[in-house]
Amino acid sequence: QRARITVHPAFEVGTIDPRIFGSFVEHLGRAVYTGIYEPGHPTADAEGFRQDVADLTRELGTTVVRYPGGNFVSGYRWEDGVGPRDERPTRIDMAWRTIETNEIGTDEFVRWTAATGTEPMMAVNLGTRGVAEAAELVEYCNVPGGTELSERRRANGADAPHGIRLWCLGNEMDGPWQIGHKTAEEYGRLASQAAQAMRRVDPSIELVVCGSSSREMETFGEWERVVLEHTFDQVEYISVHAYYQERDGDRASFLASAAGFEAFMHEVIATADAVAARRHSDKRIRLSVDEWNIWYIDSFAGEDNLELLERPRLIEDVYSALDAVVAGDLLATLLRNADRVAIACLAQLVNVIAPIMTEPGGEAWRQTTFFPIALTAQHARGVTLEARTEGPRAATAKHGEVDAVSSVVTWDAAAGSLVAILTNRSPQPVELRLDAAGFRELALAESHVMVADDAGPRRTAAEAAEVAPRPLEGVVVEGAELLVTLPPESWSLIRLT
Ligand code: AHR
Repeated sequence: QRARITVHPAFEVGTIDPRIFGSFVEHLGRAVYTGIYEPGHPTADAEGFRQDVADLTRELGTTVVRYPGGNFVSGYRWEDGVGPRDERPTRIDMAWRTIETNEIGTDEFVRWTAATGTEPMMAVNLGTRGVAEAAELVEYCNVPGGTELSERRRANGADAPHGIRLWCLGNEMDGPWQIGHKTAEEYGRLASQAAQAMRRVDPSIELVVCGSSSREMETFGEWERVVLEHTFDQVEYISVHAYYQERDGDRASFLASAAGFEAFMHEVIATADAVAARRHSDKRIRLSVDEWNIWYIDSFAGEDNLELLERPRLIEDVYSALDAVVAGDLLATLLRNADRVAIACLAQLVNVIAPIMTEPGGEAWRQTTFFPIALTAQHARGVTLEARTEGPRAATAKHGEVDAVSSVVTWDAAAGSLVAILTNRSPQPVELRLDAAGFRELALAESHVMVADDAGPRRTAAEAAEVAPRPLEGVVVEGAELLVTLPPESWSLIRLT
């Protein structure tokens, strides 16, 4: 099989917002406790943050980090997590039926983001709480001083405001599982009122309104329309949440997950633009894909029978080489839509459906999915170029006919770096020719490939490392042309300079 991709530096899709390489830390399972935070761990700093996890967070190329939920936020009282630790209440987290000690809260998390060079993205509770509490959290975080809540933050040790720019107006409010879930009308009105109040406190913030929890939700589409009719003038972004897994041994559909992901994003964009058209507005709402990943959700026991524990092992999926290929393709698809995707958060960062795993008191290690994400975040910078692809198509039960080779090409003019990320979704090798006319002489700087196998989940650091990227053999660069054979079911990143 043969495929051909044509790019030209003059034809750009859009500038890549570095916030596409975001992640997510929820008070869920062991994401916070024994994840980013474990006092007494050999690598813990004075504040109890694990430095092995902080190092891997940097290595992953993480930019923004969403916090504190997720479903957790819809029952959260932010006041419980600030102030002297011995006065903080222990409560039941109603989302995951877990004991929450509140040892970590807003101030600690913001300090962790500063230490890891990441940007906090804060969610407010629009499940059990409302307009006042959302605005009060903005006051606590972002007002320099002179008011009750800003002075409380200063008394708690944060003299300078946290300056949190990005705010999520609740989480998955369309989902019946969400504490305090709402109809689109109810949520749209509440989100609009919360946005108004939060902006009155700090006009510089950016707001994300909740889209659907998945493309499969019965209310998908109509939810986005109604919610945006209420909030269009007040928000910059609408959220997209998407999780994928292999079901019923349908490997071809799983390998093509990114095709479904892209169609989903295009449908949300079309809906947002239709709302704009009805208002005669040229404003373009962009996407905050603030939860995306592979999640074997069918094997999650459910939320009803969980024993009340502190830091339980919840949703600790272990990933295969195949999962890594699909995760790499999902991230490439976000880049391919750089004109409309502003923010994306891999859900999540550590232990909970995560690229980083930890053992309490022990090591922190990279899952298979860590590798394509870290390489992409490291190299895919600058702009996404239009990539015309001609090549074989693959039939799938779930997504119809899709491109067998999915590609994104990015150009970082400052670094002089042209990067092609190529996923061969088919079970056959594909001979690929990349024609980069307009780039003159190119040379191969580096190449990496990960190939799917049938070995299943890689349960240890050593097992995951066995399938870590290796150089892709047989890459030929002649002038402005690249020739390579992509192995079956593989993800590759090739960098030319
Ligand atoms: O990331 C895990 C959960 O998935 C989040 O809490 C929720 O928002 C989503 O359903």
